[in-house]
Amino acid sequence: MKTRLRNISIGVGIILVMLQFVRPALNLGSVEGKDDIGHTVAVPAEIQSILKRSCNDCHSNSTIYPWYASIQPIGLWLQHHVDEGKAELNFSMFNLYSDKRKAHKMEEIVEMVESHEMPLNSYTWIHKEAILSPDDKIALKEWAMISFASIKAKP
Ligand code: HEC
Repeated sequence: MKTRLRNISIGVGIILVMLQFVRPALNLGSVEGKDDIGHTVAVPAEIQSILKRSCNDCHSNSTIYPWYASIQPIGLWLQHHVDEGKAELNFSMFNLYSDKRKAHKMEEIVEMVESHEMPLNSYTWIHKEAILSPDDKIALKEWAMISFASIKAKP
């Protein structure tokens, strides 16, 4: 029984060591570019700083990785969140969306902020600075509603 347990832990150890050679493709582009959200709607400095602090790690082309992202399987798990978040909403590519999608994403932002779903709990647990203050929430929702209206009003 004892040797079996030891063999299992050696096996798990070997797997963990081998996993360290897996390197997920990192999200290291730039937030701003020719297709970023600034080309769709005005993004005031206050909003920019909220997005930077609380959303861009998962919803832009640029993630600031913590040191433990280079430890697997943590890094793989983080990358999965980034990939998933970006696929749903990418502020760096926002201007490429159809008008319908742009407007819908603005509605979703209001919803996600209202329901406290974003930023993800698993993220704010470590990134305390990303937690939205009541003022941040009001500003973000207002901005998303104004943006929604301006996208809808486009000829
Ligand atoms: C740790 C990564 C992470 C952070 C930080 C984060 N998100 Fe997300 N977001 C996701 C993931 C993953 C999804 C897709 C899965 C889901 O809906 O839970 C998502 C989905 C969304 C959606 C839904 C899009 C749709 O059409 O369904 C919106 C809107 C959104 N996020 C807005 C935000 C905003 C605004 C912030 C900052 C206040 C933020 N997110 C911060 C990871 C993140």
